[in-house]
Amino acid sequence: MSVTSSGSATYSEAVEGSNAKRGLWSSRLAFILAATGSAVGLGNIWKFPYITGENGGGAFVIMYLACIAVVGIPIMMAEVMIGRRGGRSPVNSLRLIAERDKLHPAWKLVGAVGVLAGFLILSFYSVIGGWAVSYVGTAASGQLAGQSADAIGAIFSGLLSDPLTLLLWHTVFMALVMVVVARGVRSGLERAVSILMPGLFILLLIVVGYAMTSGSFGKAVTFLFQPDFSKLTTSGVLVALGHAFFTLSLGMAVMMAYGSYLPKNISIAKTSITVSIIDTGVALLAGLAIFPIVFANGLEPGAGPGLIFQTLPLAFGQMPMGSFFGTLFFVLLIFAAWTSGISLLEPIVEWLEEQKGLNRTVSTLGAGVVCWALGIASILSLNLWSDVAPLSFIPMLEGKTIFDLLDFFTANILLPLGGLLVALFAGWVMSKQAMENELSLSASAFSLWFVTLRFITPVAVAVVFIYNLI
Ligand code: PHE
Repeated sequence: MSVTSSGSATYSEAVEGSNAKRGLWSSRLAFILAATGSAVGLGNIWKFPYITGENGGGAFVIMYLACIAVVGIPIMMAEVMIGRRGGRSPVNSLRLIAERDKLHPAWKLVGAVGVLAGFLILSFYSVIGGWAVSYVGTAASGQLAGQSADAIGAIFSGLLSDPLTLLLWHTVFMALVMVVVARGVRSGLERAVSILMPGLFILLLIVVGYAMTSGSFGKAVTFLFQPDFSKLTTSGVLVALGHAFFTLSLGMAVMMAYGSYLPKNISIAKTSITVSIIDTGVALLAGLAIFPIVFANGLEPGAGPGLIFQTLPLAFGQMPMGSFFGTLFFVLLIFAAWTSGISLLEPIVEWLEEQKGLNRTVSTLGAGVVCWALGIASILSLNLWSDVAPLSFIPMLEGKTIFDLLDFFTANILLPLGGLLVALFAGWVMSKQAMENELSLSASAFSLWFVTLRFITPVAVAVVFIYNLI
């Protein structure tokens, strides 16, 4: 249904025609649920606390919040707007807008960055998703009850040192993602998000409540919110910027794809801000749940990717009904990761369908299996290849395993690059009139957004990039 090739259809007919066929979100809520499903995931609960711990706390958190506000929200609005304006898959939306406004066709590269980033991220995301799957069993079997920090740490190291078990759970997680993407029905899952996300939120609140009474809550609050800028490095700033993209699912055209289903009468600004606030709230709550336990038990805040798997089980092991809450928590974490994983695989599958003419099942199987195979490299980085650091000759990448490199390259380079292209496209290339129509903001709000996107966002991303190169 390439409408662009039939020269007689006008742009708006093409858009309307395609939207009628593709169906729109039934409401603002449906869009918010889907976008939140993509945004809230392992990034909030697994990654945010551990990178905050590694980068010294407060100052990093402030940097991250600033990146969300100055870079994240404007780019999310731009992505949703481009998607709605184009009304189809990201690559085609960009092509359609580019054709209509007589722009260079190379702009569709933004979509290509997204396809690559999604593919690489999912390969290791699924391995971590697998950890969550494995912990459902660990919590449900009561193994965590009453354990010491050392014993909990040993359970985690045991998991990491066992490639076959990791492979099993990675396979289970990837299969979950592939089944949904192959069937192309996300409606059930979106409904699930509306129940499970609040569930996850409540469970985090329960852990925060527990941490308030039995952890070092005051110390954690100080650590998270009292900035000590001497602890913030330039690479820490890059990590904060990269994480703003990662956690909001930006820079890889996911929000563009979702925006293409958004009805015209819904405010892009309000919905983007709502999604960003929910996402940030979950991350901060995860921090408040985890750090009191870290400090109360003398654990290391900079323990790295294992942080939540070494702290939360400790809390579940000590609190009343801990096995129950622990099991529930990891089940909900799997759901959060699942809805994000789906949005990581979707762009590649759409691309294979459109560009290579493959059907959905074949596309999903092909992309999913290759991605799964790449995940094995991340699994081995945790044990047999833990000393393999292939790019150590570059000072900044010294000592990074394949898993670390995949994370670094996608979150800190590819996504900001994709986001930069989106900002340049909307800030400098797209018709201003069209954007005013799409966003329908007050004149001053539009100017604020436009100036931010045109100048501040690209400069911020460029400065952080350049600083880290030199
Ligand atoms: N935002 C997701 C998370 O925080 C990860 C993700 C990144 C999903 C990019 C889609 C696109 O877990």
